[in-house]
Amino acid sequence: MAQAHHLIGLLLGTEEDWPSAFETITRAMGPVTDSTGTEHHYAVERMTIEPFDLRHQPRQDLVIDRLAYWYYHPREWLKKAALTHDVYLLNSPFTFQSMEKHAAYCAMIRLGLHVPDTVLVPFKNPPDHAKYAYTAARYNQPFDLDAIAGRLGYPLFMKPYDGGAWVGVSLIRNAAELHRAYDESGQRLMHLQQAVSGYDVFARSLSIGAETMVMNFDPDQPMHARYRVDHGFLDAHTGWETVTIGRVVNAFFRWEFNSCETLIKDAVVYPIDYANACPDIALTSLHYYFPWAIKALVSWSVFCTATGRRPRYDLDTRRYFEIADRADLDYDQKLERYRALADEYFDVERYADFCASRLPHLDEIVLEWVEGPSLDRLLVDTVRSTFPVQEHDPFIEHYRGLLSAWARDQRAGPACGEPI
Ligand SMILES: Nc1ncnc2c1ncn2[C@@H]1O[C@H](COP(=O)(O)OP(=O)(O)O)[C@@H](O)[C@H]1O
Ligand SMILES: [Mg+2]
Repeated sequence: MAQAHHLIGLLLGTEEDWPSAFETITRAMGPVTDSTGTEHHYAVERMTIEPFDLRHQPRQDLVIDRLAYWYYHPREWLKKAALTHDVYLLNSPFTFQSMEKHAAYCAMIRLGLHVPDTVLVPFKNPPDHAKYAYTAARYNQPFDLDAIAGRLGYPLFMKPYDGGAWVGVSLIRNAAELHRAYDESGQRLMHLQQAVSGYDVFARSLSIGAETMVMNFDPDQPMHARYRVDHGFLDAHTGWETVTIGRVVNAFFRWEFNSCETLIKDAVVYPIDYANACPDIALTSLHYYFPWAIKALVSWSVFCTATGRRPRYDLDTRRYFEIADRADLDYDQKLERYRALADEYFDVERYADFCASRLPHLDEIVLEWVEGPSLDRLLVDTVRSTFPVQEHDPFIEHYRGLLSAWARDQRAGPACGEPI
């Protein structure tokens, strides 16, 4: 029987939870036989940072990255691996460096999505650069910040055009707050964005390849309680629309591991944050949804490598814009067509078929892991390293309850908490 060996690299920051889970499930999964009879063997390795030769052949077939958004050296390694040897990346830094939140807003506006009105204002403090000072003195137009805010209306949000992790994000309720936030923004380039006030639901969709889990999110809660365990909180059409928006923006920019935020008010879905290069999948924040995320990461990594899926960094912008620019289609009709392009990009049907025919044992492996001692040990270690000592016992019980609820729901049938 033909054999193929694949190495999956993990590029990590401080986390220990999901990498251990990923390693455990990949080991337990064993070899995967594809439709031609080739047996695929998997090894997982945590990557280290060291000098690299630009011609050196990487050993990894696929890399899951949680680091390169923040650090240059691994980022440049990823670019090299992508360009010289077609290493499959979740995600490619090309797509995130040039296509941050601002670009996503622009593209989604072009596609006709309900991005709240947004204005980019020039730096409060220009970069320290002699030539910039000269250029600014000659060409920078004075502008009236209050007039912009007045047009958008209070309350509004000021946030970095390329931000993440809520850094530098402020809710602005009046002119005094506006000026304070702008003065504090310093050398960061900021958006002013109309607030979607009094929304009904904050839906956060985590996408891993062809799978999307839409979760009911409450940003006002502490980290461990932000994702609510809640099924069917969106009606069928809004659920479809939310998944579609997430999948479309991901396919559009070739993002394969991303979390997307939408605010839903009076049945309108407003996308507000769509470019998270290193999406949070910590056990302590995802809790109930953590086993799904690990299973999806393993399945998508295996699907891409075993089927020889080619990484793509070139965009299909024109195909989307041709739909966007059609006057004879309404919003829903456009979404349906974008969705077809996105499903085609993520090979959704073939992926589902691959999971059913090549990974039929994975569900049971993940369930046994969730019900067994290995995940429990990981949970205890994670809680101990995350929370102060007096909170260990209550949090361990809290998370145990959520993980066993997931296992119970899965055993009860596929209706609950299923990704789309
Ligand atoms: N237009 C908006 N309307 C209402 N809430 C918003 C808006 N923009 C941001 N927020 C709130 O601020 C938080 C952080 O903003 P976001 O755009 O997601 O930035 P980051 O990329 O730092 O996560 C959001 O999760 C949401 O709670
Ligand atoms: Mg956000």
